[in-house]
Amino acid sequence: MPPRAYKRTILITGATDGIGKQIANSLAANHRENFVIVHGRSPTKCSQTVATIMAENKLEMECNVEYIAADFSTVKEVVRMAEELKIRFPRLNTFIACASVLINRRSTSADGLELGFQINHLSHFYLWNAMLPLLEANAPSRIITVGSSLHAMGSIDYDDLMAEKLYDKYLQYSRTKLMNHMTTMAIHRLLYTHGVHFSVTANVIDAEEPAENHHDVTCLSASRSYLCSRGNGVHTIQRLVEAPELAHVSGKYFDSMGKEIRSTTVAVDERAQQRLWETDEKLCASLDVPSPRPSPPTVDLMHLGSLEAARKHLLENNNVADKFVLPAV
Ligand SMILES: NC(=O)c1ccc[n+]([C@@H]2O[C@H](COP(=O)([O-])OP(=O)(O)OC[C@H]3O[C@@H](n4cnc5c(N)ncnc54)[C@H](OP(=O)(O)O)[C@@H]3O)[C@@H](O)[C@H]2O)c1
Repeated sequence: MPPRAYKRTILITGATDGIGKQIANSLAANHRENFVIVHGRSPTKCSQTVATIMAENKLEMECNVEYIAADFSTVKEVVRMAEELKIRFPRLNTFIACASVLINRRSTSADGLELGFQINHLSHFYLWNAMLPLLEANAPSRIITVGSSLHAMGSIDYDDLMAEKLYDKYLQYSRTKLMNHMTTMAIHRLLYTHGVHFSVTANVIDAEEPAENHHDVTCLSASRSYLCSRGNGVHTIQRLVEAPELAHVSGKYFDSMGKEIRSTTVAVDERAQQRLWETDEKLCASLDVPSPRPSPPTVDLMHLGSLEAARKHLLENNNVADKFVLPAV
């Protein structure tokens, strides 16, 4: 457990490299307010990352960075990680979903699922669900999903979810980014029905570098990981975590420079979100991992016209309107 109460206890999945590592570094620098949990698949790389961040920020005395290791290619590891998080970091109130892979050739996990789908999407689906009660209890809380404009590349093929018939690494990657985008929006709606109305927020950021930066020498990178701190969204992610003016902003999509942009039609399609959610739940159940949370509502309460209409809908359908407090106008 963090030795003292920090304003934020922040989990960053996939923080041992690339953008996730940069975010961890930036957030750790604010050592009076932020406690940062670096996640990665290997304990050795995690502990090296923590040491680097501590050294770069001269934080030897300020132990505000820890790590948790779990391989997202195994569902049991993710379940174990969720339990470990609850015990070690009970004040968790910020969840940045960043871990992701782009795999050249189709391969399957030990659980028999397409590897990219499992690492990029299903693991996050499980973790989001498992951590929601803690995030709600520790509100104000923020969920930030690191996405990509590639999510608009294709739609989900439910007849070939595991890409057995057709595997294209970019298509499969883009689909997993779409899935995370849709699930984040579904969580936003789910939170709304819990009556927490914007004390727990859920947003997506497109970490794609803006086209105008493509010739910027400061962005040249020897590896596929970004080195440019201006264009890859690190600054925007930091704002989504810390900025007071974004405390009640939820269900939104931002570009890497922080501008709010429109999600694709499919990403905000509530029926599509519902179908994906149910599919994920079934997959978790088939792996003996029951989803710890109920499904999001099938109707977007935000689109019901008025908050009174939403309340009426809740009373008629979900019986949770007693927890639904109308926000002050
Ligand atoms: N880079 C881009 O061009 C770009 C553009 C738009 C959006 N994005 C998004 O930005 C995020 C970061 O991308 P990036 O390119 O910076 O990533 P990256 O450098 O490739 O780092 C990926 C991270 O995910 C972790 N990871 C990989 N496989 C894992 C597994 N089986 N279990 C647990 N963790 C695992 C890695 O851990 P290890 O260190 O152990 O491998 C690493 O920490 C992603 O969500 C990506 O979709 C990136």
